[in-house]
Amino acid sequence: MSGSPTHPGGEPVVLDDGAPDGVAVVRVTTREQLEQAWEVRMEVFVDEQQVPAEEEIDELDTAATTSHVLAVDTATGAVIGTARLLSEADHPGEVHLGRLAVRAAARNRGVGARLVVAIEGLALAEHAVRGAAPGTLAVTVVLSAQEAAMGFYARLGYAVVNGERYLDAGIWHQDMAHTVSS
Ligand SMILES: CC(C)(COP(=O)(O)OP(=O)(O)OC[C@H]1O[C@@H](n2cnc3c(N)ncnc32)[C@H](O)[C@@H]1OP(=O)(O)O)[C@@H](O)C(=O)NCCC(=O)NCCS
Repeated sequence: MSGSPTHPGGEPVVLDDGAPDGVAVVRVTTREQLEQAWEVRMEVFVDEQQVPAEEEIDELDTAATTSHVLAVDTATGAVIGTARLLSEADHPGEVHLGRLAVRAAARNRGVGARLVVAIEGLALAEHAVRGAAPGTLAVTVVLSAQEAAMGFYARLGYAVVNGERYLDAGIWHQDMAHTVSS
């Protein structure tokens, strides 16, 4: 599988070590970790939100241009959340954040926000272009927000793109974006 998220060294790639609150964010570098991300997404999107199972896992999950992250409870090693970043070579300076999910029992402790910030860090490190100010780099993170989660994203700096509403998997969404710079 050409796009499997392996890492040459196989070592864990820690984006946020979890100090002081015991939730680390790591990059997915193995098939086992990707399957742990899928397990969280199936629980949250398919079981809880009734997204059709056949729509949840798609070919973008294993594309070479896709990155995934996991939130891990450092005390137990349990995977409690995930998110993915999509990029396209013909859209430099722009990435898409999606499939953000935190297990119900782990919500409202800031894990979702930490996952978003970790994805933004990855985006800035790997997909940024020259920013508006001299010597800066910038990347715009675009996402398709479930309307119920728009307040969550707004608190993290995301703004509505054009206000158009659309149904995806039976849930109303709007596009939001946030430009992050160095
Ligand atoms: C969205 C989600 C990832 C947030 O994770 P989390 O770990 O609870 O996030 P945080 O603890 O950083 O922030 C929680 C805040 O966001 C609000 N929030 C986020 N999503 C919400 C939603 N769908 N409905 C209502 N409130 C939501 C919470 O009420 C809370 O607000 P508060 O800080 O004022 O109390 C999590 O709720 C989730 O997995 N939801 C189901 C899947 C989903 O909707 N994903 C987003 C798709 S666009």
